[in-house]
Amino acid sequence: MASFLAVPAISTPPFSLPRTSFPTRLNSLFQNRSALSLSHSHRFGVRCSYAEASINEDSTSATIDVVADVRSERIVVLGGSGFVGSAICKAAVSKGIEVVSVSRTGRPTYPGPWVDEVTWTPGDVFYLNWDEVLPGATAVVSTIGGFGSEEQMLRINGEANVVAVNAAKDYGIPKFVLISVHDYNLPSFLLSSGYFTGKRKAESEVLSKYPNSGVVLRPGFIYGKRRVDGFEIPLDLIGEPLERLLRATENFTKPLNSLPASDLILAPPVSVDDLALAVISSITDDDFFGVYTIEQIKEAAEKVKV
Ligand SMILES: NC(=O)c1ccc[n+]([C@@H]2O[C@H](COP(=O)([O-])OP(=O)(O)OC[C@H]3O[C@@H](n4cnc5c(N)ncnc54)[C@H](OP(=O)(O)O)[C@@H]3O)[C@@H](O)[C@H]2O)c1
Repeated sequence: MASFLAVPAISTPPFSLPRTSFPTRLNSLFQNRSALSLSHSHRFGVRCSYAEASINEDSTSATIDVVADVRSERIVVLGGSGFVGSAICKAAVSKGIEVVSVSRTGRPTYPGPWVDEVTWTPGDVFYLNWDEVLPGATAVVSTIGGFGSEEQMLRINGEANVVAVNAAKDYGIPKFVLISVHDYNLPSFLLSSGYFTGKRKAESEVLSKYPNSGVVLRPGFIYGKRRVDGFEIPLDLIGEPLERLLRATENFTKPLNSLPASDLILAPPVSVDDLALAVISSITDDDFFGVYTIEQIKEAAEKVKV
């Protein structure tokens, strides 16, 4: 049987395949990558046997030399010390991705050996020396956002991310991933709050500066173990059963989806680990760009798990 690598039998000189993280991205061998990330590729020579079942004569002797370029990822996680950011850092480290986190507090007190694998850079995105973190990065992931006064919410959810998107663009970083938020079917007067206005501003900046690679993930309630001042808040005790309940009843609740604000109750929660896996998927898959709903986030996470 012809194997995957039994492409037309070209022997010498070796031919070069487009960039990929070999072997985990073997199925993406024929995808292209923007120019900047090429500098993070390594070249590996692979000698492959070509054996076609229907060919009888000397079927084992034909060999090809394949030189596959391997892409090593280096991501910068803005807010890597936070609830979502730390899950992303942990998942990225487990996939062998180099991780730099930026947050004002710098290194957090999470337990686990993965913490030592991350480069924790203290800094505020508004005053950051981007030269310290961006050169060589293959993606920037922003988890920056939060609540406060109208002005504060516009600044942290909107402006902070706009600054980050533009810095990433200036440094030629090929991918930007933004953790945004689901709109919960809210009526427009509620969506005009600083929180949502800021989020949508940030989204527009990502999508306009990165039309072919930018990723906007829109989760609803995110559950997991949230650490606050050294204490663990087990949000999964609520989130997990709620997610299961909503999935089990979705056929009955569907007609309610069109009601304003119905998603405040009906939008399924997403586990912080699934969200982190969706981020990993978005970083390593060049075809992953645009706006992703709660369901699509879960699907992306499932693909990585498989
Ligand atoms: N949690 C949820 O249920 C949920 C649901 C939907 C969407 N989201 C969105 O998901 C994102 C992450 O949420 P989260 O719950 O992980 O929030 P979080 O725990 O508060 O994390 C936010 C991170 O951003 C950092 N940060 C804030 N301002 C910064 C600045 N000016 N410069 C550098 N770093 C800054 C914080 O660290 P420092 O304070 O040390 O700087 C922290 O590491 C947010 O955008 C949020 O709106 C969350």
